[in-house]
Amino acid sequence: MTLDETLQAAFAAAFPGEDFSGVRVLPATDPKFGDYQCNDALKLAKKMKTNPREVAAKVVAALDRAAFEKVEIAGPGFLNLTVSAAWLNAQLATLSAQPRCGIPPRGAGKTVVIDYSSPNAAKQMHIGHIRSTVIGCALDRIFRALGYTVVADNHLGDWGTQFGILIKGYRDCLTDEERANLTVATLEKCYVLSAAKAKEPDGVWKDACRAELVKLQQGDAENLALWKRFIDISIGEFERMYRKLGVKFDTYRGESYYNAMMPGVVEKLRRMGLAEESEGALIVNLDAEKLGVAIVRKSDGGYNYTTSDLACVESRVADYHPERIIYVTDDRQQLHFRQFFSIAAKMGHTVKLVHVPFGLMSYQGKAISTREGNLIKLDDLLREAVRRSLAIVAPRGGDEQLAEQIGIGAVKYADLSHDPATAIDFNWDKALALEGNSGPYLQYAYARVCSLMEKAGEGGTDGGSGAPEPLPKDGLFRVATPSEKRLALQLLEFPGAVVRAAEAYKPSVLADYLFQTAQLYSSFYQNSPILKSEPAVRAARLRLCALFGDILKTGLNLLGIETPNHI
Ligand code: ARG
Repeated sequence: MTLDETLQAAFAAAFPGEDFSGVRVLPATDPKFGDYQCNDALKLAKKMKTNPREVAAKVVAALDRAAFEKVEIAGPGFLNLTVSAAWLNAQLATLSAQPRCGIPPRGAGKTVVIDYSSPNAAKQMHIGHIRSTVIGCALDRIFRALGYTVVADNHLGDWGTQFGILIKGYRDCLTDEERANLTVATLEKCYVLSAAKAKEPDGVWKDACRAELVKLQQGDAENLALWKRFIDISIGEFERMYRKLGVKFDTYRGESYYNAMMPGVVEKLRRMGLAEESEGALIVNLDAEKLGVAIVRKSDGGYNYTTSDLACVESRVADYHPERIIYVTDDRQQLHFRQFFSIAAKMGHTVKLVHVPFGLMSYQGKAISTREGNLIKLDDLLREAVRRSLAIVAPRGGDEQLAEQIGIGAVKYADLSHDPATAIDFNWDKALALEGNSGPYLQYAYARVCSLMEKAGEGGTDGGSGAPEPLPKDGLFRVATPSEKRLALQLLEFPGAVVRAAEAYKPSVLADYLFQTAQLYSSFYQNSPILKSEPAVRAARLRLCALFGDILKTGLNLLGIETPNHI
């Protein structure tokens, strides 16, 4: 029985006939109050309009005390709970015997589509793309760990007026050699040249771009083939970045995939009486919800972002039957998502639609902008991360592979340790610090557990080639000292932290948990001799270390961060 269930049973016995499934036991806010607390007596008393301390007393009288060393009623009616060592040891044993460190299979049988990264084609990825990619990837891994079937979908920006400009530029701004060895960098250059010419006052170039676009839209074979080539080259380049970042998509259905479905969507909106004509355009009026007006067909007959996302929902529902769809984009797109979620609901879609907006990222204290010239390419950022990490690990004998694991991990953690909703600043010193809340600090904590295990001769590592051997799984847990107990209680919270991270769509919840856990481990480690203790204590403490190691590794991997055995 879980502590929640134990308390629920006590409430039910004391007050028969009520529903107590919502009763919860929470970690104590301060260890001096005990290990856990339950605040539900207060809530119940409020509802019953009676004295909360009396309610609490009745619950305590009915409580099965097996798990507890001490139960106290505090203040206006809080229940402060101190668990027994026997209970704690048994819980640790149960947790360490569970697969995936006890992450519950909450999502079994459910599908979730996660739409993330989604850069625009024919441009190199830059530092601004990191947040969607890294946050989306962590959510992807967290939901998979919870048993969901995840469809990781890269909703590429692969359609629109820029392709007219690109095709014209490809034909008339590039050399034969550039055309033969086309890269994303060349496409970018070609776009800049062509877009500049499209601004010339005579409008000739601009008209030519538009003519190429119209040909493409009408399915002209040559233009379609060119467009396809641009997309393939872009995806090839993006995948090179994704490989570095350990990100993998199940599909790359870009905006163009939904083109053919857009007239149908608009027709449906019209039939349902949701869309109306306005100055030649077709709009959905969302004034009643204070969301303004969404254009679903422009006056020139073209469709837009809203229409494409509506078609996309329909298609995803038909193909994957998802329970929810999660979109990870920057917070400037909030209005777009609110509008289109509202329209989708009016159209009868019941799938849960979730926007995970993230704040802007600045770089070393400066806003990132094309004009400032600090629109750093993602490739360069990752290269720099590896270069700086190599400088740290090389003196200790670390190689390029280790530098990659640390550098990329540091970049990811610098993002994931912040609530996605906040704006963040990327700073090299902070990201790569070996002390403090950083990726390298947590990786280092893991490596230290590995070397401890190695010294203890109980599994550990195979000597650094990468494949970890199983950490010890036997020996009894014997939690005794305060620092041991605090670590133990914290380790038991791991499955809950993963669930909370998913429920809030915030990998930062898990990152916070891991950082706190590593700090508690470090104070346990400083206070408790391990290898030199007498055999039973030694074995018990090693097991606690092993469980910490397992949890840290599992948790970091959920954030997409690798865990080398040696640093
Ligand atoms: N391509 C868009 C951008 O670069 C993001 C697309 C997000 N996904 C979506 N279904 N709208 O901002």
